[in-house]
Parts: sequence; C-alpha cells; structure tokens
Amino acid sequence: MTDRYAVIGNPIEQSKSPLIHTAFAQVTAQDMEYTKVLGPVGGFAGAVDAFRAAGGKGMNVTAPFKLDAFAYATDLAPSAQMAGAVNAMKFEGGRVYAANFDGVGLVRDVVHNLGCPLQGRRVLVLGAGGATRGALLPFLAEQPAELVIVNRTVAKAEELAALGRQHQSSNVPVQGLGYDQLQGRQFDVVFNATSASLTAQLPPLPSSVFAPGALAYELAYGKGLTPFLQLAKQAGVTRLADGVGMLAEQAAEAFLWWRGVRPDTQGVIRQLTVPLV
Ligand code: ATR
Repeated sequence: MTDRYAVIGNPIEQSKSPLIHTAFAQVTAQDMEYTKVLGPVGGFAGAVDAFRAAGGKGMNVTAPFKLDAFAYATDLAPSAQMAGAVNAMKFEGGRVYAANFDGVGLVRDVVHNLGCPLQGRRVLVLGAGGATRGALLPFLAEQPAELVIVNRTVAKAEELAALGRQHQSSNVPVQGLGYDQLQGRQFDVVFNATSASLTAQLPPLPSSVFAPGALAYELAYGKGLTPFLQLAKQAGVTRLADGVGMLAEQAAEAFLWWRGVRPDTQGVIRQLTVPLV
C-alpha cells in the first residue's frame, strides 16, 4: 500500500513541500504520496489524529502549528527540543516522533551546496528568534572561529548566546550583541535570520561587517534581492544566497528520516530557484 505523508499548516496553499517530496519520491522510487492538509486554527490535534487514523506515516508542520506539534509529540529529538518547535513528525504505533530539520538543512546547504565551510570562519547571525535558535547547535557543531548573534532586542541575543555556550562540547566563542556593537568587526558568513525581509525591512546592519569574500545568506526564500542582500551587494559582496537550498535540504533530512534514503536535492533547487534580482 502507498505510504501517506502530508504537510499541515494554515494557510497551506503556498507550501512547496508536496512538490519537493513528490520529486524526491520519484527520484528515489519510493511508493508514497504527499499531500497538503489545511489545519483548522485551534484544531491541530484533531486534524493530525484523523490523518494518523487514515494510515498517515508522517507530516511536516508549518505555521502556525510548530508549537502545537511540539506539545503533540511523544518523543522530541534534541533538534526539536533546542529549537522549541517541530517541523517534522513520524508516526509509529502510538508514538509521535518529532524533530526540527531547519537548522541542519541550513548548514548542509551552506557547507555542501554552496561549498562554504563554516569551520574556522567568523559567523554572524542577525535575529534571535526561532530560526536562530534552531540553527544554534548545527552552527556550533561546525566549529566556527566565532559565532555572534545580533538582535534589535539585545537581551534575546544574549540569552541565545548563553544557551549556545551551555550546550556545546567545544569552545567556540559565542556572543550576543546589539547592532551598534558591530562597528569595526568583520565576518566571513552573515546570515539574516530575522523576519525583517518578510516585510521588506532592513535590520540596522553596518555594511562594514562583510569581510572580503564573505557569503551573505538570507534565510527567507523566493523574495529575490531582499534589503539585506541588496545591502551586501552594495558593500561589494559577490556570494549571495537565499533560503531555497535550506528549504530543499530540510525536506531531504525529513525524507531520509522517514524513508531511510537521502534524495539528491539539485533538481528541486534548480526548479524552485527565484533569481536574486
Ligand atoms: P522566527 O521564528 O522567524 O525567527 P521570530 O521568533 O518572531 O521569528 O523572530 C523574529 C526575529 O526577527 C527577531 O529576532 C526580531 O527582533 P526582535 O527580537 O528585536 O523583535 C527580528 N526582527 C523582525 N523585524 C526586524 C527588523 N525590522 N529589524 C531588525 N530585526 C527584526
């Protein structure tokens, strides 16, 4: 029997997950189908119960249900615990295994697809929300020379930096700062993990932060040249990327977790790439 998977969110029409997982299933010859579920606001558990009762094997979770999924899970992977949110679930008997592959997908995109190792590099992350929280341990596992988190609300950056220092086994220096403390500092990789791009806003980032040869990475996907990427370009940065590869790689991690096969992501990335203009 064909195994059933789905993404649940509200709204859900915009989700690229069905396209991505259907492509993965084709290239890996897996007998599965992947659909969209519009979850009623306040009715997450009921919708997931129904999907499981109909034989569903696993789900991706998108806004606004990532915290509901955290509460619904019986077994939280460390990635979900650290992120405080769930983006993938696997159903086995009465168990609901839950994980969050956004951070590991981001790192895989940067290191493998973009060929930009983080090891020994100075890494700057803008924003101290859920996206940064989820990427914290995957970043530290790469052993950068340093990790700086910068945020409008400085206390949140300091809090995440402290969390990072607590949870790492190595000794990567981790700092939480405000934007005005970036004067005179340079970084090799700069991630925009704020939600500013969604409203076409620009975090107050000094354009001097980009070291020669730096990579500027926008976690948002499909928005073209966002204000952050524009700033980087004007500062002379030539390595610009958005989150299309992160989107594909977090999906590939979930697919591997569900099916035991790692799909190649290149075709999907090509198909979903929106030019950075
Ligand atoms: P997500 O889960 O997408 O990370 P979030 O948890 O709401 O979303 O976090 C949004 C992040 O973007 C926060 O770090 C926020 O900064 P504050 O903590 O100071 O609110 C940041 N952010 C949003 N709009 C911004 C803007 N215009 N300039 C700078 N930072 C912004």
